[in-house]
Amino acid sequence: MAATLFLFCADPLHPLRTDPHVADEAGAARAAGAGTALIDHDALLAGDAGAAVARVERGAGAAWYRGWMIPAGRYAELAEALAGRGTTLLTGPEAYRRAHELPGWYGTFAAVTPRSAWLPAAPGDPPAEAELAAAAAPLGGGPGIVKDYVKSRKHEWHEACYTPDLSDTGRLAAVTRRMVELQDGFLTGGVVIRSFEEYPGPGEARMWWVDGVPVLTTAHPDHPGVRPAPALCAAGPRLAPLVAELGCRFVTTDLALRSDGVPRVVEVGDGQVSDLPRGAAGTAGGERLFRALVRAAGTRSAPS
Ligand SMILES: Nc1ncnc2c1ncn2[C@@H]1O[C@H](COP(=O)(O)OP(=O)(O)OP(=O)(O)O)[C@@H](O)[C@H]1O
Ligand SMILES: [Mg+2]
Repeated sequence: MAATLFLFCADPLHPLRTDPHVADEAGAARAAGAGTALIDHDALLAGDAGAAVARVERGAGAAWYRGWMIPAGRYAELAEALAGRGTTLLTGPEAYRRAHELPGWYGTFAAVTPRSAWLPAAPGDPPAEAELAAAAAPLGGGPGIVKDYVKSRKHEWHEACYTPDLSDTGRLAAVTRRMVELQDGFLTGGVVIRSFEEYPGPGEARMWWVDGVPVLTTAHPDHPGVRPAPALCAAGPRLAPLVAELGCRFVTTDLALRSDGVPRVVEVGDGQVSDLPRGAAGTAGGERLFRALVRAAGTRSAPS
């Protein structure tokens, strides 16, 4: 049987090298017994999936991807281009979208994540005020945040993310318009509106799941030095049934401690495009994660 393959993004400046963003992970993957290959992320996002996978050997078998985020439609094109060369992504396109975009995972995690609503929108075209008001109404008033189906403008918090009162439709619309404007062509799916919860803790924990098992808990990559709170590290058993229900093989859950001490899921992500904190790939935890991924590749057929 062919070794498990990891597909990493190539360095745009040196196409034969791994993107520095994930270069240490390529070493960890090889140490775990996997093979590695490079894909051209720019070509994939430009719509040329054939060129993106041109350097992947034919008949490589089962593969995980690790690298920059990919819009779900482009991921489907990647899967198809790889299939044409005899390589199957271990997370199929439907499962990828389910974990990557909030509307895909929200229903499963509704009890443990802030209340949310969403409405589709295209880049550069924010929803009308009346549509936003109707979408936000079930959340009631009080503070909220807006983001797209995948990413927020958290670094432009007051301008394009947070709003003090969701029932103030004028303000909600202004913040949403600015978020859509700043996301520009990268706006994914549409607009998500969420009730705001207080997370006073020092930082989020990112729990890494492979086939329903929490194999690693790291800091959030925004705060690589922050040690995850014990209560967050202990949340695995409570979340395991939800991760199992989601049915995606490699996911992350970002966890924060609410002011009442309850661990909450801030967001779910596809593990292939979730960042590890700087330096984590070379640690014992990083090794454990890559070994689990290699083991998983040999144990089940790929889902849709
Ligand atoms: N409902 C909420 N209540 C309180 N704080 C929130 C809420 N949603 C998001 N935040 C805060 O905003 C930050 C960014 O939100 P979120 O993680 O959803 O966006 P993101 O852009 O996908 O971030 P990243 O991919 O870097 O984790 C969170 O880390 C959290 O601190
Ligand atoms: Mg986040």
